[in-house]
Amino acid sequence: MKRISPVSRSGRFAGSPAADVAQFTESISFDCRLWRHDIQGSIAHATMLQKIGVLTKKELRAIVQGLDAIGREIAAGKFRWKAGLEDIHMNIEAELTRRVPAGAKLHTARSRNDQVALDLRLWSRDEIIALLGEIADLQRALVWLGEKNSDVLIPGYTHLQRAQPVYLAHHLLAYVEMLERDCERLWDCHSRVNVCPLGSGALAGSTFPLKRELVAKLLGFVDAGGKIQLTQNSMDAVSDRDFAVEFCAAAALLAVHLSRLAEDLILWASAEFNFIKIADAYTTGSSLMPQKKNPDIAELARGKSGRVIGNLVALLTLLKGLPMTYNRDLQEDKERLFDTADTVRTTTRLMAAMLKNTKVNKTACAAAASDPALLATDLADYLVRKGMPFRQAHHIVGAVVALTEKAGKPLDQFTLAELQSVDPVTGTKVFGRDALGIFNLQRAMARRNQPGAPGTKEVAKQLARWRSQLS
Ligand code: ARG
Repeated sequence: MKRISPVSRSGRFAGSPAADVAQFTESISFDCRLWRHDIQGSIAHATMLQKIGVLTKKELRAIVQGLDAIGREIAAGKFRWKAGLEDIHMNIEAELTRRVPAGAKLHTARSRNDQVALDLRLWSRDEIIALLGEIADLQRALVWLGEKNSDVLIPGYTHLQRAQPVYLAHHLLAYVEMLERDCERLWDCHSRVNVCPLGSGALAGSTFPLKRELVAKLLGFVDAGGKIQLTQNSMDAVSDRDFAVEFCAAAALLAVHLSRLAEDLILWASAEFNFIKIADAYTTGSSLMPQKKNPDIAELARGKSGRVIGNLVALLTLLKGLPMTYNRDLQEDKERLFDTADTVRTTTRLMAAMLKNTKVNKTACAAAASDPALLATDLADYLVRKGMPFRQAHHIVGAVVALTEKAGKPLDQFTLAELQSVDPVTGTKVFGRDALGIFNLQRAMARRNQPGAPGTKEVAKQLARWRSQLS
């Protein structure tokens, strides 16, 4: 069988690479997924080459038709990748040239170094847009669950100890806020991804009078104001992977947010909390214990944050010692970038689907939220309203709580006399009959209506704001 000599070796090399070298250096096994963007970039490049007289109109037509045909075959799964041709760029170019003689002119004024930078930017751009859509879906699922249970109160926690009452919706909307910041970071990253590196050549541009603006325009490298975005330094352009790092960093933070949400859901689904029930389709069983229903999706979401964080660290490490400009090390960026994108996208999607299949156990939530100790701060605030300095009020209510523990009686069942029994600390009778009314949860929630607080009106306002913002 005739051994294929990769295009990049013809001329200079006497023979093909050793079999294990080919295997070690190939990237087609993973960069084949860039095919659509590689073809898109080649068509734009060819269009420009025709404009500057490197290709005739006929040659351009043949190249575009050839690339389109190859694209159709790849999409149909009929294209045979050749590992000997190293990567996506040479696989497509070699096949094009085999079919269309003018294909041999396509690589004029182009290097795989600016080509791969272009492909990655085009791919990342699409990926960011798709991910933003998934995040919005997850935000909608959180808002939906909050609205469906808009009257449900739960304890809010600090140190995983019951702290103060909040609406379940308020807790869910905290994640909507986090996800919104993720979207902002991704959009910001998008603005630096969306810059065209083509024309940078191997590292030092080209001797041809390239029309870089035309290529950039054809490929949609324009900002919101319609300004064409071109890289401004050919050396930077071929070795820059900051955009990939930025994407992986934004995605790592997203993964951390998803992991935190997962952790809350895992806790809530436990018998100890019992706040939610995840539908069978979104839970798994145990191979040994017949009674088990495990929140594996949430656990995997939590676990997958590890690899996404790892990918970010891998990329930073990959870049930190590279001399200018392109080095083959950079080929190692792809699997990390792809893995991050795939992982956060599926995790975001699965979390949204799971939330849409989750029921809130209103009885258990109400029981937990009715713990009167959650309103101990409200009782201190009551004393402050009567004119007592907060530190003193904090001390007195602390003493009342200690007394309830000793008496084995919940705070809201203390009589006025019992409350007043701690008064000797101050020597005054600050607790009045109205102190007992502090433990009315509805009234307590009505009092918390500053912007961002978990009060009844404020949470309703926030739910409405998010619903309209996400529609
Ligand atoms: N497969 C290579 C990569 O992913 C493409 C660029 C190769 N360039 C080179 N000079 N060998 O980075």
